[in-house]
Amino acid sequence: MTQSTFKRLLLGITGGIATYKAAELVRLLVRQGVEVQVVMTQAACQFITPVTMQALSGRPVFTDLWDNRIDNGMAHIEFTRDVDAILIAPASADFLAKLAQGRADDLLSTLCLARACPLMVAPAMNVHMWKNAATQRNLALLKKDGALIFGPGSGEQACGDEGFGRMLDPEVLLEALEASQQPKLLAGKKLLITAGPTFEAIDAARGITNLSSGKMGYAIARAALEMGAEVTLISGQTSQIPPYGANLIKVTSAQQMLTAVMANLVSKDVFIAVAAVADYYVLNPSEQKIKKDAHILTLELAPNPDILANVMNLPDPPFCAGFAAESENLIEYAEHKRRRKNLPLLAANLIQDAFGGDDSELVLLDDKGAHPLPRAPKIILARQLLRHLARMLPKKPKD
Ligand code: C5P
Repeated sequence: MTQSTFKRLLLGITGGIATYKAAELVRLLVRQGVEVQVVMTQAACQFITPVTMQALSGRPVFTDLWDNRIDNGMAHIEFTRDVDAILIAPASADFLAKLAQGRADDLLSTLCLARACPLMVAPAMNVHMWKNAATQRNLALLKKDGALIFGPGSGEQACGDEGFGRMLDPEVLLEALEASQQPKLLAGKKLLITAGPTFEAIDAARGITNLSSGKMGYAIARAALEMGAEVTLISGQTSQIPPYGANLIKVTSAQQMLTAVMANLVSKDVFIAVAAVADYYVLNPSEQKIKKDAHILTLELAPNPDILANVMNLPDPPFCAGFAAESENLIEYAEHKRRRKNLPLLAANLIQDAFGGDDSELVLLDDKGAHPLPRAPKIILARQLLRHLARMLPKKPKD
């Protein structure tokens, strides 16, 4: 599990059926190494007990402004002193109204008013409460005051209604929290990314492919979105869930990938080729399944187009970055590939490190030399790679 960028969070829980999601949220945050101080409203305690939250957070839970466990009697200041942010999840319609008006009539609202840290809010309520003009007014005020709003999601509600108002699922909320903390170094930039393997048919049931989970390409797409980029992701067959907000184009073969890349290059600032493209395709694939027999089967293979080279050879290519997976002499072979492909930036990794896992190790190669990125989850490497790439981009945007 990835380390969080937050060290300490104050999690405020207000009344609503979505409090059960707050329990899972605390568990995930604690697993990411975050210290979570839970504060609950009286209404939240009707739905889930402080004991549950105490067990999950490993810290005493506070619900009352007049709690005499707080040494100096100044709970409203004490709890937010060293936290990185206050997160209210779930945030009820009533609590949004309180926040918008700056009311301070219980511990949680007082803490929010007395804070000197960012405020983040994950609303959860019935669809009609959400759509109500008063709620939308309060929300607009909160946004104007600088609060970050996450969700709500849409779907079936506990009351049986359908529509917006569901608190984001804990994993999705955590992703959104992390994304909000990333510097927007790629704001206004348009990125085209290839990911995953290509598959070249032999017959109706069989084919040639490369080992590739697609994890690195999808992580780069996600990190680029977090940094404010517009992302088109052209992907071979993978089981990865595409990051929210990416324009996903699914392809199968290298030829389809090339066609999709060329059709989507217009006005792109950056092209990152992460896909593991098969080097060859079968010249005459059979439409029907080839029957097995005892004879040797000979396949005629022809080389696939090099997609990255095709892009680099355009008269006005976007900024291009490639990947190289090598099994030995990593830096020497990869730097040779970078020069041959005339790439400003290439990320190299060892095949034994690269495939399938959630972690990897990269070396970034550019004209200034080799920049090793130590072993880390792929999303962390993706962010580091894109920070490096963002520094290399020309200042002038592409027309
Ligand atoms: O396969 P190879 O090691 O040459 O891949 C280096 C880079 O070129 C990778 O970024 C890969 O996505 C890209 N490539 C491509 N089309 C190919 C082969 C590789 O875009 N046919």
